[in-house]
Amino acid sequence: MGRTSITLGGVHLNSTVTNASGPRSATREELLELSAAHSGAVVFKSCNPTGLESPDNLKNPGVDYYAALARDLAPKGTVVWGSVVGVTEEEIIEVAKRLDQAGAKIIELNLADDFVANSVGPFKSIDRLKALLRRVRAAIGAVIAVKVPPSVPRDQAQAIAAVFKETGVAVAVCANDLPKGLEFDLAQGCVKAPRGALSQTHAFYLAGGGALDVVAVGGVGSGSEAYLAHLTGAKAVQVGSALIKEGVGAIARIDRELDALLAQHGKSSVSEIIGKVAFV
Ligand SMILES: Cc1cc2nc3c(=O)[nH]c(=O)nc-3n(C[C@H](O)[C@H](O)[C@H](O)COP(=O)(O)O)c2cc1C
Repeated sequence: MGRTSITLGGVHLNSTVTNASGPRSATREELLELSAAHSGAVVFKSCNPTGLESPDNLKNPGVDYYAALARDLAPKGTVVWGSVVGVTEEEIIEVAKRLDQAGAKIIELNLADDFVANSVGPFKSIDRLKALLRRVRAAIGAVIAVKVPPSVPRDQAQAIAAVFKETGVAVAVCANDLPKGLEFDLAQGCVKAPRGALSQTHAFYLAGGGALDVVAVGGVGSGSEAYLAHLTGAKAVQVGSALIKEGVGAIARIDRELDALLAQHGKSSVSEIIGKVAFV
């Protein structure tokens, strides 16, 4: 097993580095290219039951398209990581079920988008969130991940993490919103900052108390950015903008850079650094 392999929500991933849902991961061609270029998981574009023409960022051909692709990729050993949106709880459950039946190992509920916030409103109350997640949990066998809106206040991380644990959500996909200009030293594994949660990812890592896996998304374009995300609690990282800029090779490059940094700092596995950030 390589230095950058990990178990996420109980699913083995050859690398902690994956694409983020959407960027260069919306069409069959793009997703096949991603799975050929990298042995880690492949995250699908968010989809709803019948497809969307708008909003632009959620334009998709509907779940049938992605379920067919999951049926092709899963038997070949690719870890398929689906992503779900909907305007009702029923839509979310229907799409999650279809992806589950097609062989997706991880199903990410994209509850971070305004499209879902303005219809289902899962974060309007703890009870609403709990009710939705209980229904999804009862309907599918795959690992459930929830993409958390970046706007969720840090002081709610504890209560939301408790709901995830109670309802069987194993993975929180959180914003990697570290302070701008944060000074850090990877060799020492430390940051120059007051003690406390450094990002939404870090807040959920701390709130999860070891019982919740956290994935960082946002601003990861290099091995050192991935390393820092891991130090602040991420078990995996998702790459969006760098993939658009650089093409499919970005994922393997970041994985190689992360691997080299781990070796340089005497780590035999990425697991040794997760959440281990120190403060000076
Ligand atoms: C063109 C584009 C399409 C996106 N589509 C989705 C999507 O379908 N589902 C989703 O959860 N996020 C979507 N996102 C957000 C990304 O998954 C990611 O959270 C965001 O780009 C931040 O990561 P980055 O800083 O590496 O770009 C999209 C982003 C972009 C730029």
